[in-house]
Amino acid sequence: MRFRRNKKKKKGLTSEQKQAMESQLRGTLEYDVPMSTRTTIKVGGPADAVFAPADPEDVATFVRLASDLHIPYEILGGGTNLLVKDGGYRGVMLDLREGFGYLDRLDDLRVKVGSGAALPTLVARCREWGLKGCEGLAGIPGTVGGAFAMNAGTHEGDVSMVTEQITIVTRSGRVKKLGREELPFEYRDLPLKKGTIILDGTLKFSEGDPKELGEVISESKARRKATQPLDKPNAGCIFKNPEKVPAGKIIDDLGLKGVRLRGAMISDVHANFIVNVGDATAKDILGLMSMIKEKVKDAHGLKLEPEVRIIGEDEEEK
Ligand code: EPU
Repeated sequence: MRFRRNKKKKKGLTSEQKQAMESQLRGTLEYDVPMSTRTTIKVGGPADAVFAPADPEDVATFVRLASDLHIPYEILGGGTNLLVKDGGYRGVMLDLREGFGYLDRLDDLRVKVGSGAALPTLVARCREWGLKGCEGLAGIPGTVGGAFAMNAGTHEGDVSMVTEQITIVTRSGRVKKLGREELPFEYRDLPLKKGTIILDGTLKFSEGDPKELGEVISESKARRKATQPLDKPNAGCIFKNPEKVPAGKIIDDLGLKGVRLRGAMISDVHANFIVNVGDATAKDILGLMSMIKEKVKDAHGLKLEPEVRIIGEDEEEK
């Protein structure tokens, strides 16, 4: 007798989980949302649900439900640095843009900003207000929450440098404030406990001149436009920079620019970007990433680490 081993299909949300969310949450809940429509690289299978919470209490209720009913969740951010695999995500993606898009000036130098606010909006508003400190982030897409979570930055500086405090919801559903000294920022990372949700932050700037800030912002945007493939769907830099030489230079020097795997291509503008040149799948992108890692390991003995967040599961074999 011959046996065929079937991979066990992971189940989506149960009706008990759906009913509990529908009856207790106040924000917007959508089911079976293709992540190709919510990520800038435009790939990814469906998330079981996307939930846009109404306010902090709604987030706390969700987290408690998720813990009681074992519902996995992830934060969507702006979908700019996220690669969801082709089989989709079994769980709930939280979208904070609806309920947490606020941006308020607290006093002369401090601003309170919701995780769902767009990072480019923060940069533009700080320029108008004459607040110096985040102009180096000009041109980085995504949300402020995502920028905190990955300590977004450029050679000019990163988010940690202006952060005074952030508000989080803990895995047990408690709203809590963390001061700068409690925030373990690293290069392109803010490692908090798994399941923690960042709701907003207080940023502290110094005084700046709107005209000068505007010039720095324009230069920074122009530089990115000239050196990055911003006209094609992408997920930002794919790998973190190793200590000595930037990943883009290493990959470029190996002659890998322009290499394609079906719909995905190593950008011919910046080698640390993979672009979707037409109906790419997550498998194509991950395939290129593995190929790059292998070549870099062989040539330099270096292990490149992804900068892009990879979640979800592979598509079932057909
Ligand atoms: N380079 C090459 N070939 C390439 C790409 C880059 O030789 O194909 C060289 C450049 O000429 C330069 C050096 O590598 O000498 C560094 O390149 P670049 O200035 O473009 O910066 P990067 O280190 O590749 C970092 C951030 C970017 C950010 C830029 C601009 C990381 C992993 N990347 O890139 O962030 O936009 O600086 O400040 O830290 C992102 O986070 O998604 C991202 C793209």
